[in-house]
Amino acid sequence: MGGSKAEEKPAGGGGGGEDWWCYQFGNKDALIVKSSKKSPLALRMVVFAMTMICGIFICTMCMKQLGSDSLSRIVKIEVAEQLCNKSAILHSEVHFVHYPQPITYSRSECKCTPVRFFAIISSQRSGSGWFETLLNSHMNVSSNGEIFSSKERRSNISSITKTLDKVYNLDWNSSASKNECTAAVGLKWMLNQWQSRISIPLILCLQGLVANHADIADYFNRRGVSAIFLFRRNLLRQLVSQLANNHDRYLKQLNGTHKAHVHTAYEASILARYKPRLNTTSLIRSLKQVDDYTHDALENLKSINHITIYYEDLIRNRTKLLDVLDFLKVPRSKLVSRHVKIHTKPLSEQIENWDEVYNALNGTQYESFLNADYRI
Ligand SMILES: *[C@@H]1O[C@H](CO)[C@@H](O)[C@H](O)[C@H]1NC(C)=O
Ligand SMILES: *[C@@H]1O[C@H](CO)[C@@H](O)[C@H](O)[C@H]1NC(C)=O
Ligand SMILES: *[C@@H]1O[C@H](CO)[C@@H](O)[C@H](O)[C@H]1NC(C)=O
Ligand SMILES: *[C@@H]1O[C@H](CO)[C@@H](O)[C@H](O)[C@H]1NC(C)=O
Ligand SMILES: *[C@@H]1O[C@H](CO)[C@@H](O)[C@H](O)[C@H]1NC(C)=O
Ligand SMILES: *[C@@H]1O[C@H](CO)[C@@H](O)[C@H](O)[C@H]1NC(C)=O
Ligand SMILES: *[C@@H]1O[C@H](CO)[C@@H](O)[C@H](O)[C@H]1NC(C)=O
Ligand SMILES: *[C@@H]1O[C@H](CO)[C@@H](O)[C@H](O)[C@H]1NC(C)=O
Repeated sequence: MGGSKAEEKPAGGGGGGEDWWCYQFGNKDALIVKSSKKSPLALRMVVFAMTMICGIFICTMCMKQLGSDSLSRIVKIEVAEQLCNKSAILHSEVHFVHYPQPITYSRSECKCTPVRFFAIISSQRSGSGWFETLLNSHMNVSSNGEIFSSKERRSNISSITKTLDKVYNLDWNSSASKNECTAAVGLKWMLNQWQSRISIPLILCLQGLVANHADIADYFNRRGVSAIFLFRRNLLRQLVSQLANNHDRYLKQLNGTHKAHVHTAYEASILARYKPRLNTTSLIRSLKQVDDYTHDALENLKSINHITIYYEDLIRNRTKLLDVLDFLKVPRSKLVSRHVKIHTKPLSEQIENWDEVYNALNGTQYESFLNADYRI
């Protein structure tokens, strides 16, 4: 019920050039950071000064924390944890079980219903919008969408932490919010989003997750947050989907509105009409960079308790979803989504210069992308 709207939000704040950290693929491996360049010495001074300020800031905060408000809150949480009988929970699970006390409402009869924290970590056009609606169709799961598409919320680790705290305290009010009996709460976090108007060079933009990976992995491990890594094996299909999505962002083919996800086969057919032309000179390089980049990110985040899911596997075998429900320790149930897949045809009918692309990839490590098609 409540869940069906969270995904309606445009996937990603990925509109124009609102992202800071962008790698431009294709020409040069330039890291475009839209900030003024500083000399190493000046930079070091700044870092030093920041460290000092942070130190003082943390001390001050600690002092304040001992003040009335937080203290009573901490005590309250401890009391609640003590009141809830944890003896039925496996020892290995205790770290992942929580009893949040929302500020904005009371969990009333469910205050001792354990809550798991999760984050869907994915990349654009990997089916994560679809996946999230499926999860939100579960009565006890609340996934609050791509909340870090907002630049302000991800601008530094303290605003990231503050936002996460609010979500995991069940205080985040979104269309995906459920009742007090939520048993798993989370959000969707994109490792990257690909931006490009028409074709490659791709521009890969980051939603704060990579820039702050150490702190975030630390937060997740400390607070017992589990991650669902959702990826797509076929990067070529992902690229086509991304280019078609970007194309629609500018053309707004559906009655003047841009849609990242659709609910009818008719709308899907309109969005799938566009056949991108890929620059075969830079294609392999771009695919490799995206591949390496995802590997590096996962390497950095692998200490988090996680499950890895592939979009293609979910499409082929819906029972894979039950693995996710088991991972979140919520009761198994049938999950539904109104999303309709946009690109259903073989890749050869979806790329303008298919022959060129075929020749460029044939015989390379990405050859499998050309042939691996799935039935719907
Ligand atoms: C294709 O990519 C190459 C290398 O990045 C670039 O030099 C060339 O201009 C691109 N071609 C088109 C048509 O964009
Ligand atoms: C906690 O629950 C277990 C069974 O799950 C029960 O045996 C035990 O008595 C309960 N403890 C308290 C303090 O209620
Ligand atoms: C972090 O970002 C928020 C929002 O952009 C800002 O208000 C705050 O001052 C920043 N904090 C630090 C320590 O930079
Ligand atoms: C959540 O937001 C909706 C609409 O903005 C509002 O009607 C509702 O009262 C809010 N709920 C809470 C618990 O703040
Ligand atoms: C799921 O939600 C229902 C209805 O709100 C509630 O009765 C039930 O206890 C919840 N289940 C779990 C495992 O939290
Ligand atoms: C566009 O609007 C017309 C009439 O307002 C409606 O019949 C049609 O279904 C809409 N098309 C899409 C793709 O939303
Ligand atoms: C579908 O996925 C489930 C759960 O992972 C697995 O047990 C089952 O063997 C899979 N079925 C097929 C046909 O691959
Ligand atoms: C793909 O490459 C192989 C050799 O690597 C070649 O035999 C085959 O004809 C190529 N396929 C096409 C369709 O060009």
